[in-house]
Amino acid sequence: MIQLKNVYKKWGDLSVLENISLDIVQGEIFCLVGMSGSGKSVTTKLILGLEEPDSGEIWIDGENIHYFSPKTWREVLRKFGVVFQNAALFSSLNIYENIGIRLLEEKKETPRKIKEKVEETLIKVGLSPDIMTKFPDELSGGMRKRVGIARAIIHKPRYLIYDEPTTGLDPINANLIDGLIQTLDREEKHTTSIVITHDFHTVEKLNGNVVMLHNHRIYFTGKTVAFLRSEDELIRNFLSR
Ligand SMILES: Nc1ncnc2c1ncn2[C@@H]1O[C@H](COP(=O)(O)OP(=O)(O)OP(=O)(O)O)[C@@H](O)[C@H]1O
Ligand SMILES: [Mg+2]
Repeated sequence: MIQLKNVYKKWGDLSVLENISLDIVQGEIFCLVGMSGSGKSVTTKLILGLEEPDSGEIWIDGENIHYFSPKTWREVLRKFGVVFQNAALFSSLNIYENIGIRLLEEKKETPRKIKEKVEETLIKVGLSPDIMTKFPDELSGGMRKRVGIARAIIHKPRYLIYDEPTTGLDPINANLIDGLIQTLDREEKHTTSIVITHDFHTVEKLNGNVVMLHNHRIYFTGKTVAFLRSEDELIRNFLSR
């Protein structure tokens, strides 16, 4: 479980997050929504230790991350898989190297074993292992998203963070990606998925929990059904887009 307790974050005069408290419960899907600039990406950066809160605490699996040593961080980050916005693949590396990068760097397994894992993972995300020798530029946007997901899941993380997984995709591919997120979440009972999205179709399809940020604070938190039924004007606006 990931817990944010009264978290505040600002840069100079710009207050981004104020008094954010949130329990991200094991095994569930959380959609993080809110206007551009509302602090969604910052929230995930705080969780990953890439930024520090000004005050408040963040706990991962019962431990306050403030006290993590670099060694502990390395272990903790192994529990995470992150799918960056626009897939963020390395254009000079082929698909095998892109997906296997973490395992190749760790050097804990033989290249042969890593290749097997890359193959398995490609199949899991609905791609053919034949594309391993291709480069990101040779793939379609939808395929690149899948490669980004493959890279995030190859080490079987407990926490999966997706930043705008369907942005820039056509409706059919967006729908397929939502389906994939759902399948991956269900496959492993303990997986917790945090999905940052502007796409209300994604929220609807994933049908989990919704956390909406607005004016530096948590504006809504609850189940998707309640979110979709809400009569609140701001939420209706989000849904009618
Ligand atoms: N390192 C930083 N230094 C200064 N300001 C920052 C920094 N990182 C983020 N911000 C500011 O914090 C605010 C929230 O940014 P964040 O990236 O979390 O927005 P977001 O909700 O993810 O938006 P989007 O939907 O556009 O991705 C923005 O105003 C941004 O300019
Ligand atoms: Mg963002």
